[in-house]
Amino acid sequence: MPQASNPSDSNLISKAQRFFKHALGKDNEEKWQEQYAKGDWAWLRRLDELGHHSILAGYFTYLKRGGSLLDMGCGEGLLQERFTEADYSKYVGVDFSEPIKLAIHKQTDKTRFVVGDMNTYVPDELFDAIVFNESIYYLDEPLKAFQRYATHLKPDGIFLVSMFVKDKHLDIWQKIESGFPPLDAVTITNARATSWVCKALARPEK
Ligand SMILES: C[S@@+](CC[C@H](N)C(=O)[O-])C[C@H]1O[C@@H](n2cnc3c(N)ncnc32)[C@H](O)[C@@H]1O
Repeated sequence: MPQASNPSDSNLISKAQRFFKHALGKDNEEKWQEQYAKGDWAWLRRLDELGHHSILAGYFTYLKRGGSLLDMGCGEGLLQERFTEADYSKYVGVDFSEPIKLAIHKQTDKTRFVVGDMNTYVPDELFDAIVFNESIYYLDEPLKAFQRYATHLKPDGIFLVSMFVKDKHLDIWQKIESGFPPLDAVTITNARATSWVCKALARPEK
């Protein structure tokens, strides 16, 4: 990067740096890294957040018990804690390095935590279920990403998704449901009046 000789050049350079970081999604990554390092997301472990993890875990054990699951944007692996290792053949959680640091102590032969960016991550095997638990908002293009991830689902594989209720999230549901029909949907509300919609979605036949 060139050195600025005067203040307006330096302004331009930092604007350009911000533009390229944004274009590469690096500003998003930095924000998550900083926030997880400071413990800003520790509240996700609270009792009143349990509902959406439990519904997604329930869908998995009902529909795919003993199968494999890929948890995209897994954070510190709170969903994984809703299972015993007998419930799955393999669990892979993917996130940036700071959240993964908080999960790595749970790693075993069957339970893996991997550093990756879900907008570019390429799984190296097929899964029975792919999960976006409060993380789908951070996909650049949700429908395109689902189409790409669907190629890493087994033929009868499913997506499991949780999103908290907000008007603007209806658009994301509509987009993904245009390609992936829901098998079931549940809306839950906790004591603080926060609501989530959780859905199991099918991979359509080709
Ligand atoms: C609201 S938190 C949810 C974490 C976890 N799924 C849970 O429910 O406890 C969103 C997560 O998505 C992750 N995330 C955001 N953008 C991502 C990306 N591009 N690639 C991988 N993870 C991402 C964040 O680091 C964070 O862990």
